Amino acid sequence: MTDLSLSGRVALVTGGTRGIGLATARALAEAGATVVLTGRDESRAKEAASAAGAAAGLALDVTDAKAVSALVRGVAKEHGKLDIVVANAGIMEDALLGMIKEELVDTTLSTNVAGTLHTVQAAARAMMRKKSGAIVVLASIVGEYGSAGQTVYAASKAAVANIARSAAKELGRSGIRVNAVAPGVIETDLTSGLSEDAKAENSSRTPLGRLGRPEEVANAIRFLVSDEASFITGQVLGIDGGLVL
Ligand code: NAI
Repeated sequence: MTDLSLSGRVALVTGGTRGIGLATARALAEAGATVVLTGRDESRAKEAASAAGAAAGLALDVTDAKAVSALVRGVAKEHGKLDIVVANAGIMEDALLGMIKEELVDTTLSTNVAGTLHTVQAAARAMMRKKSGAIVVLASIVGEYGSAGQTVYAASKAAVANIARSAAKELGRSGIRVNAVAPGVIETDLTSGLSEDAKAENSSRTPLGRLGRPEEVANAIRFLVSDEASFITGQVLGIDGGLVL
Protein backbone atom coordinates (compact mmCIF):
# COMPACT_ATOMS: atom_id res chain seq x y z
CA MET A 1 0.00 0.00 0.00
CA THR A 2 1.37 3.45 -0.85
CA ASP A 3 1.46 6.28 1.65
CA LEU A 4 1.63 9.46 -0.36
CA SER A 5 -1.18 11.03 1.63
CA LEU A 6 -0.20 14.12 3.62
CA SER A 7 -3.46 14.25 5.53
CA GLY A 8 -3.00 15.88 8.93
CA ARG A 9 0.40 17.41 8.01
CA VAL A 10 1.17 21.11 8.23
CA ALA A 11 3.34 22.43 5.38
CA LEU A 12 5.05 25.71 4.54
CA VAL A 13 6.21 26.64 1.01
CA THR A 14 8.30 29.80 0.47
CA GLY A 15 8.06 31.67 -2.83
CA GLY A 16 4.72 30.02 -3.43
CA THR A 17 3.06 32.72 -5.54
CA ARG A 18 3.98 31.22 -8.92
CA GLY A 19 6.01 28.61 -10.79
CA ILE A 20 7.39 25.63 -8.91
CA GLY A 21 6.37 27.02 -5.49
CA LEU A 22 2.73 27.46 -6.49
CA ALA A 23 2.61 23.99 -8.10
CA THR A 24 4.16 22.52 -4.93
CA ALA A 25 1.68 24.26 -2.64
CA ARG A 26 -1.14 22.89 -4.80
CA ALA A 27 0.31 19.36 -4.86
CA LEU A 28 0.74 19.28 -1.07
CA ALA A 29 -2.77 20.65 -0.52
CA GLU A 30 -4.22 18.05 -2.94
CA ALA A 31 -2.44 15.34 -0.92
CA GLY A 32 -4.32 16.54 2.17
CA ALA A 33 -1.80 18.82 3.90
CA THR A 34 -2.71 22.13 5.50
CA VAL A 35 -0.50 24.45 3.47
CA VAL A 36 0.77 27.95 4.21
CA LEU A 37 2.53 29.63 1.31
CA THR A 38 4.55 32.82 1.30
CA GLY A 39 5.40 35.49 -1.24
CA ARG A 40 7.10 38.87 -1.07
CA ASP A 41 3.80 40.60 -1.79
CA GLU A 42 0.95 39.91 0.64
CA SER A 43 -1.95 40.33 -1.78
CA ARG A 44 -0.29 38.03 -4.34
CA ALA A 45 0.38 35.49 -1.60
CA LYS A 46 -3.30 35.53 -0.61
CA GLU A 47 -4.43 35.14 -4.23
CA ALA A 48 -2.01 32.26 -4.78
CA ALA A 49 -3.16 30.58 -1.57
CA SER A 50 -6.75 30.58 -2.69
CA ALA A 51 -5.75 29.31 -6.18
CA ALA A 52 -3.69 26.48 -4.66
CA GLY A 53 -6.20 25.42 -2.02
CA ALA A 54 -3.76 26.53 0.69
CA ALA A 55 -4.91 27.58 4.15
CA ALA A 56 -3.09 30.94 4.09
CA GLY A 57 -0.82 33.18 2.04
CA LEU A 58 1.59 35.35 4.00
CA ALA A 59 4.14 38.03 3.12
CA LEU A 60 7.79 37.08 3.62
CA ASP A 61 11.15 38.14 2.26
CA VAL A 62 13.48 35.20 2.91
CA THR A 63 16.54 37.45 3.06
CA ASP A 64 15.22 38.78 6.39
CA ALA A 65 16.36 36.18 8.95
CA LYS A 66 14.26 37.60 11.80
CA ALA A 67 11.12 37.68 9.65
CA VAL A 68 11.68 34.07 8.53
CA SER A 69 12.14 32.94 12.12
CA ALA A 70 9.03 34.80 13.33
CA LEU A 71 6.86 33.53 10.46
CA VAL A 72 7.90 29.90 10.91
CA ARG A 73 7.33 30.13 14.67
CA GLY A 74 3.93 31.73 14.05
CA VAL A 75 2.81 29.01 11.61
CA ALA A 76 3.91 26.24 14.00
CA LYS A 77 2.12 27.95 16.88
CA GLU A 78 -1.11 28.54 14.98
CA HIS A 79 -1.31 24.99 13.62
CA GLY A 80 0.22 23.26 16.65
CA LYS A 81 3.20 21.88 14.67
CA LEU A 82 5.13 22.07 11.42
CA ASP A 83 5.77 18.85 9.47
CA ILE A 84 6.93 19.96 6.03
CA VAL A 85 8.95 22.94 4.79
CA VAL A 86 9.84 23.60 1.15
CA ALA A 87 12.51 26.32 0.85
CA ASN A 88 11.68 27.22 -2.74
CA ALA A 89 12.17 31.01 -2.97
CA GLY A 90 15.01 31.84 -5.33
CA ILE A 91 16.21 34.14 -8.07
CA MET A 92 18.32 33.69 -11.20
CA GLU A 93 20.15 36.37 -13.14
CA ASP A 94 22.74 35.57 -15.78
CA ALA A 95 26.06 37.39 -16.19
CA LEU A 96 29.31 36.42 -17.89
CA LEU A 97 32.30 36.40 -15.53
CA GLY A 98 33.60 39.80 -16.64
CA MET A 99 30.17 41.39 -16.22
CA ILE A 100 29.34 40.19 -12.70
CA LYS A 101 28.51 43.16 -10.46
CA GLU A 102 28.80 43.18 -6.68
CA GLU A 103 25.05 43.78 -6.38
CA LEU A 104 24.27 40.60 -8.33
CA VAL A 105 26.52 38.60 -6.01
CA ASP A 106 24.84 40.12 -2.94
CA THR A 107 21.23 39.64 -4.05
CA THR A 108 21.80 36.12 -5.38
CA LEU A 109 23.66 34.88 -2.32
CA SER A 110 21.35 36.61 0.16
CA THR A 111 18.22 35.17 -1.50
CA ASN A 112 19.33 31.71 -2.63
CA VAL A 113 21.92 30.81 0.01
CA ALA A 114 21.12 32.88 3.12
CA GLY A 115 17.36 32.74 2.42
CA THR A 116 17.44 28.94 2.18
CA LEU A 117 19.64 28.70 5.25
CA HIS A 118 17.33 30.93 7.32
CA THR A 119 14.35 28.81 6.25
CA VAL A 120 16.05 25.49 7.05
CA GLN A 121 17.26 26.80 10.44
CA ALA A 122 13.80 28.02 11.42
CA ALA A 123 12.20 24.79 10.15
CA ALA A 124 14.64 22.67 12.16
CA ARG A 125 13.88 24.63 15.34
CA ALA A 126 10.14 24.16 14.85
CA MET A 127 10.44 20.44 13.98
CA MET A 128 12.92 19.59 16.73
CA ARG A 129 10.18 19.64 19.38
CA LYS A 130 8.26 16.83 17.69
CA LYS A 131 11.42 15.07 16.54
CA SER A 132 10.05 14.62 13.06
CA GLY A 133 9.78 16.56 9.83
CA ALA A 134 10.72 16.75 6.16
CA ILE A 135 12.48 19.65 4.47
CA VAL A 136 13.12 20.11 0.73
CA VAL A 137 15.35 22.83 -0.74
CA LEU A 138 15.57 23.91 -4.38
CA ALA A 139 18.99 23.28 -5.87
CA SER A 140 19.58 23.09 -9.65
CA ILE A 141 21.43 21.00 -12.21
CA VAL A 142 23.68 24.02 -12.78
CA GLY A 143 24.70 23.84 -9.12
CA GLU A 144 25.92 20.28 -9.74
CA TYR A 145 27.52 20.74 -13.18
CA GLY A 146 28.12 24.50 -13.69
CA SER A 147 26.86 26.71 -16.49
CA ALA A 148 28.52 29.37 -18.64
CA GLY A 149 27.06 32.79 -17.85
CA GLN A 150 25.60 31.54 -14.58
CA THR A 151 28.62 31.41 -12.27
CA VAL A 152 26.92 33.25 -9.41
CA TYR A 153 23.64 31.33 -9.69
CA ALA A 154 25.48 27.99 -10.03
CA ALA A 155 27.62 28.77 -6.97
CA SER A 156 24.50 29.65 -4.98
CA LYS A 157 22.76 26.41 -5.96
CA ALA A 158 25.85 24.30 -5.14
CA ALA A 159 25.64 25.88 -1.69
CA VAL A 160 21.95 25.02 -1.46
CA ALA A 161 22.69 21.34 -2.23
CA ASN A 162 25.28 21.33 0.52
CA ILE A 163 22.87 22.95 2.96
CA ALA A 164 20.66 19.89 2.34
CA ARG A 165 23.50 17.38 2.76
CA SER A 166 24.91 19.03 5.91
CA ALA A 167 21.54 19.63 7.55
CA ALA A 168 20.57 16.01 6.77
CA LYS A 169 23.66 14.80 8.65
CA GLU A 170 22.96 17.10 11.58
CA LEU A 171 19.20 16.55 11.85
CA GLY A 172 18.83 12.85 11.06
CA ARG A 173 19.00 11.76 14.69
CA SER A 174 16.18 14.22 15.42
CA GLY A 175 13.93 12.45 12.91
CA ILE A 176 14.15 15.29 10.41
CA ARG A 177 14.90 14.47 6.76
CA VAL A 178 16.40 17.08 4.43
CA ASN A 179 16.61 16.62 0.66
CA ALA A 180 17.16 18.80 -2.39
CA VAL A 181 15.66 18.68 -5.84
CA ALA A 182 17.79 19.78 -8.78
CA PRO A 183 15.48 20.75 -11.63
CA GLY A 184 16.68 21.11 -15.21
CA VAL A 185 15.00 23.74 -17.36
CA ILE A 186 11.42 24.15 -16.15
CA GLU A 187 8.96 26.48 -17.88
CA THR A 188 8.27 29.25 -15.33
CA ASP A 189 8.74 33.02 -15.08
CA LEU A 190 12.34 32.33 -14.05
CA THR A 191 13.18 30.86 -17.46
CA SER A 192 10.76 32.99 -19.51
CA GLY A 193 13.67 35.21 -20.57
CA LEU A 194 15.34 32.34 -22.43
CA SER A 195 15.28 32.85 -26.21
CA GLU A 196 13.27 30.42 -28.33
CA ASP A 197 16.63 29.18 -29.69
CA ALA A 198 17.94 28.49 -26.17
CA LYS A 199 14.71 26.64 -25.27
CA ALA A 200 14.91 24.58 -28.47
CA GLU A 201 18.56 23.77 -27.80
CA ASN A 202 17.82 22.67 -24.23
CA SER A 203 14.91 20.54 -25.44
CA SER A 204 17.02 18.84 -28.08
CA ARG A 205 19.81 18.10 -25.55
CA THR A 206 17.25 16.53 -23.21
CA PRO A 207 16.66 12.79 -23.75
CA LEU A 208 12.93 13.27 -23.08
CA GLY A 209 12.96 15.94 -25.81
CA ARG A 210 11.26 18.82 -23.99
CA LEU A 211 11.47 21.26 -21.09
CA GLY A 212 9.92 20.42 -17.72
CA ARG A 213 6.69 21.58 -16.12
CA PRO A 214 6.41 23.01 -12.57
CA GLU A 215 4.01 20.16 -11.66
CA GLU A 216 6.71 17.61 -12.46
CA VAL A 217 9.00 19.15 -9.85
CA ALA A 218 6.11 19.47 -7.40
CA ASN A 219 5.29 15.75 -7.74
CA ALA A 220 8.87 14.82 -6.81
CA ILE A 221 8.77 17.15 -3.81
CA ARG A 222 5.46 15.65 -2.69
CA PHE A 223 7.10 12.21 -2.80
CA LEU A 224 10.19 13.38 -0.87
CA VAL A 225 8.12 14.84 1.98
CA SER A 226 5.81 11.81 2.17
CA ASP A 227 6.24 8.68 4.28
CA GLU A 228 7.10 6.80 1.07
CA ALA A 229 10.49 8.53 1.27
CA SER A 230 11.02 7.72 4.95
CA PHE A 231 14.60 6.40 4.46
CA ILE A 232 15.73 9.09 2.00
CA THR A 233 17.75 12.02 3.32
CA GLY A 234 20.67 14.17 2.15
CA GLN A 235 19.92 13.47 -1.51
CA VAL A 236 19.93 15.80 -4.49
CA LEU A 237 17.30 14.47 -6.89
CA GLY A 238 17.66 15.52 -10.53
CA ILE A 239 14.37 16.36 -12.27
CA ASP A 240 15.68 17.25 -15.69
CA GLY A 241 14.39 14.81 -18.30
CA GLY A 242 17.89 13.35 -18.44
CA LEU A 243 19.54 16.65 -19.52
CA VAL A 244 22.74 15.97 -17.58
CA LEU A 245 23.33 12.53 -19.11
P1 NAI B 1 9.82 31.90 -10.22
O1 NAI B 1 10.63 33.11 -10.51
O2 NAI B 1 8.65 31.59 -11.06
O3 NAI B 1 9.37 31.89 -8.69
C1 NAI B 1 10.25 32.22 -7.67
C2 NAI B 1 9.49 32.53 -6.42
O4 NAI B 1 10.41 32.93 -5.40
C3 NAI B 1 8.52 33.70 -6.62
O5 NAI B 1 7.33 33.43 -5.90
C4 NAI B 1 9.27 34.88 -6.00
O6 NAI B 1 8.43 35.90 -5.55
C5 NAI B 1 9.98 34.17 -4.85
N1 NAI B 1 11.09 34.94 -4.30
C6 NAI B 1 12.17 35.43 -4.95
N2 NAI B 1 12.95 36.12 -4.09
C7 NAI B 1 12.35 36.05 -2.87
C8 NAI B 1 12.65 36.57 -1.59
N3 NAI B 1 13.74 37.31 -1.35
N4 NAI B 1 11.81 36.30 -0.57
C9 NAI B 1 10.71 35.55 -0.77
N5 NAI B 1 10.34 35.05 -1.96
C10 NAI B 1 11.16 35.30 -3.00
O7 NAI B 1 10.88 30.68 -10.24
P2 NAI B 1 10.71 29.10 -10.32
O8 NAI B 1 11.18 28.68 -11.63
O9 NAI B 1 9.39 28.68 -9.85
O10 NAI B 1 11.84 28.69 -9.28
C11 NAI B 1 11.59 28.22 -7.96
C12 NAI B 1 12.90 27.68 -7.41
O11 NAI B 1 13.37 26.63 -8.26
C13 NAI B 1 14.01 28.72 -7.35
O12 NAI B 1 14.78 28.51 -6.17
C14 NAI B 1 14.83 28.41 -8.58
O13 NAI B 1 16.18 28.82 -8.46
C15 NAI B 1 14.70 26.89 -8.63
N6 NAI B 1 14.97 26.31 -9.95
C16 NAI B 1 14.21 26.66 -11.03
C17 NAI B 1 14.50 26.12 -12.29
C18 NAI B 1 13.72 26.47 -13.51
O14 NAI B 1 14.13 26.05 -14.61
N7 NAI B 1 12.60 27.18 -13.43
C19 NAI B 1 15.64 25.20 -12.46
C20 NAI B 1 16.36 24.91 -11.24
C21 NAI B 1 16.03 25.45 -10.04
